[in-house]
Amino acid sequence: MKHVSVMTAECLEYFKDARLITFYEGTLGAGGHAKAILEAHPEIEIYIGCDKDPEAIEIAKSVLKKWKDKVVFVHGDFGDLDEHLNDEKIKEVDGFFFDLGVSSMQLDQGEKGFSFMKEGPLDMRMDPTSRLTAREIINRWTEKELGELFRDLGEEPRWRKVAKVIVEARKKMKIETTTQLAAIICSALGGSSKKKLHPATLIFQALRMCVNTELESAERGIKNALKFLAPGGRLGVLSFHRGEDRLVKNIFRDAAKLSGVRLLTKKPRVPTLAEIRANARCRSAKLRFAERV
Ligand SMILES: C[S@@+](CC[C@H](N)C(=O)[O-])C[C@H]1O[C@@H](n2cnc3c(N)ncnc32)[C@H](O)[C@@H]1O
Repeated sequence: MKHVSVMTAECLEYFKDARLITFYEGTLGAGGHAKAILEAHPEIEIYIGCDKDPEAIEIAKSVLKKWKDKVVFVHGDFGDLDEHLNDEKIKEVDGFFFDLGVSSMQLDQGEKGFSFMKEGPLDMRMDPTSRLTAREIINRWTEKELGELFRDLGEEPRWRKVAKVIVEARKKMKIETTTQLAAIICSALGGSSKKKLHPATLIFQALRMCVNTELESAERGIKNALKFLAPGGRLGVLSFHRGEDRLVKNIFRDAAKLSGVRLLTKKPRVPTLAEIRANARCRSAKLRFAERV
């Protein structure tokens, strides 16, 4: 499935009256937001687009070919954006954007192992060159470590029970695939029929966040971005679950208190009903924007 960019109109609204000469996007994906931003801001001279996933970068290269002289594609972690900017000798950035988490393209690629709906290996790495996989966590971590992961990153209320059944199940057989793990979780938490969320949702979320160091990267990336944000520059972050939004809210709040940053969204913006109807996957999106004064 093609990736449908989320809240693009709202993002453009917050960048509208800013003069964007230098831009850094941490989560290029299929280049959907990048295309919209480059179209709306012909003044952009350099657009650095970073992604952990080399396949996403290849897709973005073709989507953004019209701007090939302006876009610098970086395969890496946006947590290291200070290094990416130093490589380009950029000291100040007028616009930053981060669309956190996984893309629908990645979710739909069964072989990446992100989805409990699709058969695939328990991998979940956005960056195939990174080391830790979900398979290693599920088969090697202790019951205590698994429980804490499901509690802290998944906010799964029945984390103890899930950790216990996984450890029981793996004594009989190695847990290798997404559907095998989903069935084990369902055996602990019951079927999915009347519930809004599939029982495996929060466990898969926790694994994905851990494998891809999502909260650590977001924290490093956003704090780094604030250091490089030029006067009048804007920084936007789209997050998709509570832990992520809490992190963004706290970093923005501290920056507003301590370092000359104005919040453009006192409360996060959420998608319109029309957008949610057209793309159910955006329903949990929260958009926050800040500006360097
Ligand atoms: C939701 S998608 C972005 C979609 C994009 N905005 C678009 O409109 O096509 C998130 C992308 O960010 C990448 N990503 C997530 N965390 C990252 C990180 N810490 N560093 C670099 N890329 C990351 C993922 O690989 C994925 O391709």
